[in-house]
Amino acid sequence: MPARLAQRVLLSGIVQPNEPEARKECAPPDTSAAFSQNVVLPTDRRSPVKGQPGAPRARVLIVDDEANARTALAELLRDEGFAVETAADGFKALPKLEEFAPDMVLTDLCMPGMSGLDLMRKARELDPETVSVVMTAHGAVDTAVAAMRQGAADYLTKPIVVDELLIIIDRELERRRLRLEAGLLRHRLADGQRIHNIVGSSPEMRELFDTVLQVSPSRASVLITGESGTGKELIAAAIHEHSPRASGPLIKLHCAALSEGLLESELFGHEHGAFTGAAGARDGRLKQADGGTLFLDEIGDISPAVQIKLLRFLQEREFERVGGNQTIKVDVRVVAATNRDLQRLVAQGMFREDLFYRLNVVTIHVPSLRERASDVTLLAAHFLRKYSQDNGKEVRGFTEGALDRIARYPWPGNVRELENVIERAVVVCRGRDITFEDLPPAVAGAAANAREGMPPVPGSTVAELERYAILKTLEYTGGSTSRAADMLGISPRKIQYRMREYSGGPPRSNRSPALQQRREIGNSPSSPAGGLSGHNPAGPASDE
Ligand SMILES: Nc1ncnc2c1ncn2[C@@H]1O[C@H](COP(=O)(O)OP(=O)(O)OP(=O)(O)O)[C@@H](O)[C@H]1O
Ligand SMILES: [Mg+2]
Repeated sequence: MPARLAQRVLLSGIVQPNEPEARKECAPPDTSAAFSQNVVLPTDRRSPVKGQPGAPRARVLIVDDEANARTALAELLRDEGFAVETAADGFKALPKLEEFAPDMVLTDLCMPGMSGLDLMRKARELDPETVSVVMTAHGAVDTAVAAMRQGAADYLTKPIVVDELLIIIDRELERRRLRLEAGLLRHRLADGQRIHNIVGSSPEMRELFDTVLQVSPSRASVLITGESGTGKELIAAAIHEHSPRASGPLIKLHCAALSEGLLESELFGHEHGAFTGAAGARDGRLKQADGGTLFLDEIGDISPAVQIKLLRFLQEREFERVGGNQTIKVDVRVVAATNRDLQRLVAQGMFREDLFYRLNVVTIHVPSLRERASDVTLLAAHFLRKYSQDNGKEVRGFTEGALDRIARYPWPGNVRELENVIERAVVVCRGRDITFEDLPPAVAGAAANAREGMPPVPGSTVAELERYAILKTLEYTGGSTSRAADMLGISPRKIQYRMREYSGGPPRSNRSPALQQRREIGNSPSSPAGGLSGHNPAGPASDE
């Protein structure tokens, strides 16, 4: 052990190390001059290193009513690279808890006024992650143990051994860091799924979660818009689950699936004999949803007659069954969804404007998966876990190639399409990871094309391979010559030059027989250009 660490900082207020009787905890502090001699700093710690570069290791607040002890400890810890503040008692420490926001409070237990225990409690109230280490007189271990029961991380008996002190500080700050990290991780995971079953950590989805949580408690009608498969029904369920009606029913009705007459009867119920086949009276979904939520999916598809009846219900909260004249009152919150542009339907006279405004008290737009690309891999991982479990398979993850395809595919069918693709991939997957071969051709398409269109090796000229590489890279960069040049490690000029050749245009310089040959390759019907998604080789260069 280095000699400097073996030395002790002897805290004033405690008897000399050789004295058998320790001062009893809470004895009045002795401030006599003799104590200054009891603070013995290791020689190489005497002069604090001023202005150490870099951020401090952590912030430590030292609270002790004995001035010499405070100063000695503060000096020691500053030398160790900590930011240090001191306070003479609990009350004086209080404002420093807020201003200085210490990571650790190193406090004497027995001080006049506010005790170390009370201070510790205050510190934890302000920040539960503040580490408290208490200092106690030799022979007062019971008090220290009591402090630990109340949340102190550890205790030190005076006189304090420097290396013991530093070990405790390092260990407790490391534990604190790990706790914070674990907390952050949990927070991040929870953020990725802040609403049960709904995965997403993109800014768009976070905002959407906020809106859902904000509107759920009210009774306001909500209109959920978004492309097919974006998760509108899931959002509707979340609104119900987070509302005071959660213990009531959530009733769903898919409006587009029913004819006008059936829809009306499904929604409002019917009396016996109201129409052919109406044997017996029946409650509609509105009545079933009493005290809960009614989710009307594909609301853009309802007929004008049903629109009027629904409008009346939304205005007056009452309705009659089909074929009946008894007015029924129910307490139902309506959440509707559509993948159609309702406002346009209003403009075209196909949807009542008054109903539109009644439904649209709050609008929640669910963005397409294209608009929140950062959620794609998160969702893919979520569905992988789900379907591996469902199928009793141990599929661990995705190969890089598969993940790359998944990330690049535009997902026109949104989350539903992604879910189906992953489910299928889990089922067909034979190894521990999903490869791009497990993906359907539409998703793995570009890779399959690449394999088909790639000139065979051996059997191709360098010119053919170069042509393939240039066209394929341009396809990937969406025609950006500069990005393609970066990726290929050649100049944009070279790409432009080659493109003119491939398109049959005259290159700027004299054409060599070799170039002539390349031009012929470019014009060949068996050239890979056909496999490049209609890419126009003459086109790209627009970003230059
Ligand atoms: N953010 C998400 N997290 C987890 N699963 C999701 C998410 N979004 C959608 N899904 C899943 O995708 C599928 C389609 O979602 P949903 O039925 O809610 O979409 P939709 O917008 O109502 O589609 P449509 O307009 O075709 O009715 C469901 O299986 C749903 O569980
Ligand atoms: Mg739906």
